[in-house]
Amino acid sequence: MATVVAISGSLRKGSFNSALLRAAAELAPDDLVLVEGSIAAIPLYDGDLEAREGLPPAVVELKAQIAAADGLLLATPEYNQSFPGVLKNAIDWLSRPPADVPRVFGGKAVAVIGATPGPGGTRLAQAAWLPVLRALGTRPWFGKQLHVSGAASLFDGEGGLVDERTRAQLAEYLRGFARFVASPSG
Ligand code: FNR
Repeated sequence: MATVVAISGSLRKGSFNSALLRAAAELAPDDLVLVEGSIAAIPLYDGDLEAREGLPPAVVELKAQIAAADGLLLATPEYNQSFPGVLKNAIDWLSRPPADVPRVFGGKAVAVIGATPGPGGTRLAQAAWLPVLRALGTRPWFGKQLHVSGAASLFDGEGGLVDERTRAQLAEYLRGFARFVASPSG
């Protein structure tokens, strides 16, 4: 049984990316447990705040969650053809202090998915994460890609993923990621 921390890069209640992760938790294979990691209470990174008070409690908690997990699943919105600042801000806090990075992120299996109401499926945002994942020394999974476009017509009013084709793609994606997480060599 493997545990993966699932983080949505959107703070809004009606987020398609958060909804995608809720569907992922439901569709994950039996040997993969998704636990929600929240960035909602993480403040803007401020080196003076860090020097004065250390890491904020929300960062300490999420760091511990990730360090204890077998993998990380990011659902990234795309903002101006790149990743959203709120999620990058959270990752930046999580990379402090640098001496902890190998313990928290080193060799960690990471997958990136994303949803947008637009046509591009967050392709550019997903690609923008790659240098960050490399900087952290993670083990990114490239076995499949999931680009959810036209999201407004795939989810119902309660944020349920109702499009059967997307549900099947997500389930297949998660089966592949579960195999990757379980295999130390990838
Ligand atoms: C967007 N959006 C967007 N969409 C996209 O596919 N490519 C883009 O470059 C952008 N750029 C962009 C910039 C900013 C500042 C905002 C606020 C939005 C639209 C975006 O995909 C949409 O708001 C999603 O609904 C955001 O994800 P959540 O919140 O639904 O998870």
